[in-house]
Amino acid sequence: MSETNRSGADSQPPIADPQIVSNQVSPIGADAAAGAPGQDLSSLQKQGERYAPAEAVLRRAHVPDFDALRQSSIADPETFWSNQARELEWFAPWTEILQWRERTDAAPPQVQWFVGAQCNITANALDRHAREGSARRNKVALLWTGEPDANGKIAERAFTYGQLLRRVNQCANVLKGLGVQAGDRVTLYMALTPELPIAMLACARIGAVHTVVYGGFSAPALKSRIEDSESKVVICTDIGYRRGKVIDLKGAVDEAVRGLDFVQRVLVHRRGDTTLDESRETDFDSALDAASSECEAARLDSEAPLFFLYTSGTTGKPKGVVHTHGGYMVGTSYTHRICFDLHDDDIYWCTADPGWITGHSYVTYGPLINGATVLLAEGALDFPDAGRWWSVIEKYGVNIFYSTPTAIRALMRFGDEFPAKYDLSSLRVLGSVGEPINPEAWLWFHKNIGHEQTPIVDTWWQTETGQFMIATVPSYPTKPGSPGKPLPGIEAAVVDKEGREVEPGKGGFLIIKKPWPGMMRAIYKDPERYEKYWTLIPGLYAAGDVATCDEDGYFRVMGRADDVMNVSGYRIGTAEVESALVSFPAIAEAAVIGKPDPVKGESIKAFVILRQGHEPSDELLQQVKQHVREELSPIAVPGEIDFVPSLPKTRSGKIMRRVLKAKELGVEPGDISTLED
Ligand code: PRX
Repeated sequence: MSETNRSGADSQPPIADPQIVSNQVSPIGADAAAGAPGQDLSSLQKQGERYAPAEAVLRRAHVPDFDALRQSSIADPETFWSNQARELEWFAPWTEILQWRERTDAAPPQVQWFVGAQCNITANALDRHAREGSARRNKVALLWTGEPDANGKIAERAFTYGQLLRRVNQCANVLKGLGVQAGDRVTLYMALTPELPIAMLACARIGAVHTVVYGGFSAPALKSRIEDSESKVVICTDIGYRRGKVIDLKGAVDEAVRGLDFVQRVLVHRRGDTTLDESRETDFDSALDAASSECEAARLDSEAPLFFLYTSGTTGKPKGVVHTHGGYMVGTSYTHRICFDLHDDDIYWCTADPGWITGHSYVTYGPLINGATVLLAEGALDFPDAGRWWSVIEKYGVNIFYSTPTAIRALMRFGDEFPAKYDLSSLRVLGSVGEPINPEAWLWFHKNIGHEQTPIVDTWWQTETGQFMIATVPSYPTKPGSPGKPLPGIEAAVVDKEGREVEPGKGGFLIIKKPWPGMMRAIYKDPERYEKYWTLIPGLYAAGDVATCDEDGYFRVMGRADDVMNVSGYRIGTAEVESALVSFPAIAEAAVIGKPDPVKGESIKAFVILRQGHEPSDELLQQVKQHVREELSPIAVPGEIDFVPSLPKTRSGKIMRRVLKAKELGVEPGDISTLED
């Protein structure tokens, strides 16, 4: 698939006119961006009453006085972050905590944390817990459960920290044997089994850079990511299981690596009876079994790359967000510990797939650095029935449950009777991530899952931020639909286009003022795209979201300010879908918008112009959908496709998606002075 946008659709700046943001028509209007007074939103905030934590929560709190910690951290964020870093193990200390170089005309901004220090994230995630004398050595690190099979049997596996270290070392030695060296990239395309975090950690152990591609992406999308990262080795699972069906992952890998001569080996974790082509493929389990279980963690510079993770932006080409060992391990472990009030006897379950940033920071690295017992559950939330997740919570006595608004809304629709069948009393903290949680879903989660006892921590962050940025801690009062406040060490604000803070309740751009340890260090091979985060409002990191902040300092994220959609918590660029659409032979031009959806947050609607000689039909519609599924991913398939004779464009030929969106939603389109026709 070519990921350039052949439709000629917008090449707008990364943050466009925020009149219409992804989840709803923004009440702020275009004027908020220009700094003129926007519409007052205070009535919305008044609806959200505050929920105070229960006494039992306060007794266990790691951070009893959130506001005091926030204030002291802001006075001196560098000392604050270095204190957090001292909780971890380093091979050699830093000479400077932070080096921040603002962008110049000649160079993008550059940030370095814990300058000159040596470390390895796996020394903290594994060795620290697994070494002799550690109380966590025989503690379960990973607990995995599969989907119930046709007979209702459920497969389970567990790794203690000691076992996990040995398996990671074996995998690291296999990678070394394949010639993988520090700095080399390895693409992972795997089902949700313990082998996925094992492979990630094995790369990190030897200083190789992992790039995990979500198993829901198609072969062309996988190929473009392998190509961009120039991965020497690909690690895959042959098959995954979902809703009782077998998902063929290896088939997609075969297609993706065809013609890519720089891919030297494919390491296949076999669950089925897949045969391997030994000239190019190696069996994961037998290679690991034969390898030594000793492998010292490579001593790496604090700024050594840990992983690339591709995420959607405003162009058709996904961005390879680069994260590093030192700052990222500090940012993820600290935020994971305080936001979930993690204690040593907790069973922690985050439902994200490791193919997304949440699976990196809060399934794998943050929790393992903190020595948690991490539950992994393969399969769908409603198979064999809508009680699956609640049965998992009951069975394992899950204490901390972290999921998405989309999942909560979907489960809410099945009715209260499903959670009511299970004992959920082990739950102590609930979490939400990925998109704004609407108060209705928040209240359902609070009542039916948390039984009005359990705080809900709504965490706002991004692939780029690496770590939680705006959230609360369990001891702090929450407001439904608001992630809360900037965490200790983070300074965020809502500003207009000139960078001036807007009044409480008014909409504007969500920005971060100062560097933080877990932040991305680069977009791989694309310094221009990296620098754009700091150019919309010079010197400030613009997240690409539109938000408000109320008089109590609680933020509320309204949605994206750019052409990025949030479908079921998955971030998808309109240009990526348009690019897939116009690669279909019968389509001449395409424009895509996100439309509010009661379950998914947003659904995708496409407008397409057919080439001459093609007529709209149901059959063609199905073919187009199938094409997007194969080119990109099932999650990117438009729910609706309209065949249209023309598209609204500016005089310079850019498609005005916001005009399409306004028309679709039956609202005023705002400024249309640049519209051609
Ligand atoms: O728009 C915000 C939304 O998800 C975007 C980041 O997407 P991604 O990089 O895929 O990371 C998702 C998981 C961290 C943000 O720009 N978003 C994320 N969390 C929230 C949210 N919107 C509202 N509330 C949240 N808690």
